[in-house]
Amino acid sequence: VTVYVPGDSGALALGADEVARGIAEQAAAIGADIRIVRNGSRGLYWLEPMVEVATGGGRAAYGPVSAGDVASLFEAGFLSGGAHPLSLGDPEEIPFLKNQTRLTFARCGIVDPLSLEDYEAHDGLKGLRNAIAMTPSDIVQTVTDSGLRGRGGAGFPTGIKWKTVLDAAGPQKYIVCNADEGDSGTFADRMLMEGDPFVLIEGMAIAGLATGATKGYLYTRSEYPDAIRTMNAALAVAREKGVLGTSVLGSGKAFDIEVRVGAGAYVCGEETSLLNSLEGKRGVVRAKPPLPAHHGFLGKPTVVNNVISLASVPVIFDRGSEFYRDFGMGRSRGTIPIQIAGNVKHGGLYETAFGLTLGELVDEIGGGTATGRPVKAVQVGGPLGAYFPRELFDTPFDYEAFAARDGLIGHAGIVVFDDTVDMAKQAHFAFEFCAIESCGKCTPCRIGAVRGAETVDKIMQGIDREKNIALVADLCNTMKFGSLCALGGFTPYPVMSALNHFPDDFRKKTYLQA
Ligand code: NAI
Ligand code: SF4
Repeated sequence: VTVYVPGDSGALALGADEVARGIAEQAAAIGADIRIVRNGSRGLYWLEPMVEVATGGGRAAYGPVSAGDVASLFEAGFLSGGAHPLSLGDPEEIPFLKNQTRLTFARCGIVDPLSLEDYEAHDGLKGLRNAIAMTPSDIVQTVTDSGLRGRGGAGFPTGIKWKTVLDAAGPQKYIVCNADEGDSGTFADRMLMEGDPFVLIEGMAIAGLATGATKGYLYTRSEYPDAIRTMNAALAVAREKGVLGTSVLGSGKAFDIEVRVGAGAYVCGEETSLLNSLEGKRGVVRAKPPLPAHHGFLGKPTVVNNVISLASVPVIFDRGSEFYRDFGMGRSRGTIPIQIAGNVKHGGLYETAFGLTLGELVDEIGGGTATGRPVKAVQVGGPLGAYFPRELFDTPFDYEAFAARDGLIGHAGIVVFDDTVDMAKQAHFAFEFCAIESCGKCTPCRIGAVRGAETVDKIMQGIDREKNIALVADLCNTMKFGSLCALGGFTPYPVMSALNHFPDDFRKKTYLQA
């Protein structure tokens, strides 16, 4: 009998290792022949650790399981799918999972992350094999036709980025995967690296074939030890099985990947400071142009793509660009793995075609707040994303629709707040965050963030309120248009959305200092 106990760090934090140990011990005690697979998470985090058993009639899930539940699970005969108070039935039928469109995360939580056989049995490597039979420009054209846009946050067309690198001169080019996932409420990159590392390796290899790059770097953060371990183990398997190396799957084309770990600075998720860090320099932003596509790692043409962008490539080459492009709305094509977090009942990863409204995500899929209180605001797109009030819950998940409402999708993390949140404090926090994380290269961000925090402080204390509110708006304008990168340039989004949508929070009669 195969028993799946997630090895995903979200599940580990909730005791998955103890559960796995308990199951192994109980099975040994009764002489049951079981195999425990440490799979990735399905992304239903409120049910983690979610244990699954492969029965003759499919999988049976139980969750959230704690080590103390193991004995009663055995008593209930869970190895043959027996009923238990923690029974969830067929995991695929849980509405949160059933209603998703899982293309990028198709295998996550299902396969053994380190089994290449399992990966191939679930359509893995088909995309890479198809790409090997194509010319580089046809590969680039397929990505362009799919409509895939950068999932790191900026939404830049991936095909155009790859074409720039393909057309750039030079014998040495690089693929850099940005896995420095730093946005609040986001975990899609981590979940994918821990649950289905081969899909990222496959996507990077296709990017290499498309552009002529023979070397890839995966830049991630030291706070992701499990993802680092899984990726390194998967890379070793990929090399051993000839997926990576001097001749990728016998194509005669070389490609290999190395994992690099950053020391932990939010700004190193910005592509140029990431490249500096990768080169062993301080993680300071470089002015653009030149673009990394022309002058990137060690000055060579470099594709810098987010984990989810690269991991979405294999399915495009397996099922075709039209298949992928048919999902979505407007210029936002395909699917987007939305990460639902904060004060929410059903937190987790929800991959779906673009177009779902924010309200559907928060109220229906997320089930409202965990505290049961009314939702007051939702921050979309990380610490630099705007706060959306309920009046804007009809905004569909689409790059342009969010931009039209002075917001951004970013890396698609949403953080839910109930009515106890103080939006003036949140505005203060945005400036404070920017001040701490600023790389210091440009003045509007380096000085503006500090002055912004001070000014919001004064507003909260009731000092020259209206004058200082106007000052904050003016400062935000300077930061938005005068900053060198998105850190300073986007800090105005949380600040101004708080000011515009929740004006009363800045005008309370008595105010405690932040
Ligand atoms: P950007 O708009 O400057 O560039 C987007 C991408 O397109 C870059 O990779 C750039 O090099 C590339 N590019 C632009 N023109 C090109 C051309 N002609 N040929 C080839 N490549 C070209 O945006 P930036 O500053 O890279 O990122 C800002 C975004 O990052 C924001 O939208 C924000 O949502 C997101 N973000 C994500 C975070 C995360 O943790 N994932 C954290 C903070 C911000
Ligand atoms: Fe550095 Fe901030 Fe300027 Fe970005 S906006 S370059 S983080 S100082």
